[in-house]
Amino acid sequence: MLIRPPADILPSEITSQALFLQRRRLLQSLGAGAALAGLGQDLWAAPEGRPTLGPLSASPYSSQEKTTPLASVTSYNNFYEFGSAKEDPARQAPGRLKTHPWSVAVEGEVKHPRVYDIDSLLKLAPLEERIYRLRCVEGWSMVIPWVGFPLAELIRRVEPTGNAKYVEFVTLADPAQMPGVRSPLLEWPYVEGLRLDEARHPLTLLAVGLYGEVLPAQNGAPIRLVVPWKYGFKSAKSIVRIRFVAEQPRTTWVKAGPSEYGFYSNVNPAVDHPRWSQATERRIGEFRKRPTLPFNGYAEQVADLYRGMDLRRFF
Ligand code: MTE
Repeated sequence: MLIRPPADILPSEITSQALFLQRRRLLQSLGAGAALAGLGQDLWAAPEGRPTLGPLSASPYSSQEKTTPLASVTSYNNFYEFGSAKEDPARQAPGRLKTHPWSVAVEGEVKHPRVYDIDSLLKLAPLEERIYRLRCVEGWSMVIPWVGFPLAELIRRVEPTGNAKYVEFVTLADPAQMPGVRSPLLEWPYVEGLRLDEARHPLTLLAVGLYGEVLPAQNGAPIRLVVPWKYGFKSAKSIVRIRFVAEQPRTTWVKAGPSEYGFYSNVNPAVDHPRWSQATERRIGEFRKRPTLPFNGYAEQVADLYRGMDLRRFF
């Protein structure tokens, strides 16, 4: 159905990892710590390139694997609001998606509901670089150096009530900016959800950047979710509303194909997608497939969340 089987990226489309490391060294030598000082309109309206974010602390949760080149991370995307082909978001989102001003309403079963503007979210907690694997249900994967802060930091501030059991993430659906929203391909807005304990887990990130810079539009600017042990579609892009609720949210992909995309969507090589195996994956930039790891390699950190659950039933 809608999510397609994998296609490959040509090695010629991939730029060198050395560029990233070179730029990182340059930033360090310049004292990138100053970069966030003048947050606000200027950060988003930079005339050349995307502004850098900093200072960034390194995270013990980071993968040690080789990161996927920036050119691939930003040109091979799923963001159906900008079309369903992998190259559509890079072609259509930059310039169209207006990411400033931007606000995120945090509401529902919380003691302190609040509308945060993006500038205050950028300052909410220290920004970290988190190198995470992202595994798409289609069978491809990447390793991405995200910049963000744990969602738990936000949750702590709004204080969920005893009724909050799940968190729903609602993303922008503006047909004026997003040509894909005019098509009935999916039900808009794109909605995802997590159980409250999954949302609070220290691995769960609200990302505002990647490769040390503000998020590119096609990767879900200005703020998106990253849940590294779940299939990529759980990582909702361009979030405008975070709602704490008592009932399990009806999420976009569950509505689109309940037998194909479950609510939990934990990466599980033992549970096939009905139309293809999930046992292996192709890391973008590599030719040979590699085995997919349970929970995308994060089992040690997250398996406890699902103790006693039948993960074939709750897929
Ligand atoms: N978020 C929104 N709003 N719309 C989408 O279509 N696609 C999801 C997820 N978040 C999607 C979304 C899917 S299927 C994947 S695999 C990841 O974003 C891809 O993230 P990336 O393009 O930054 O790698």
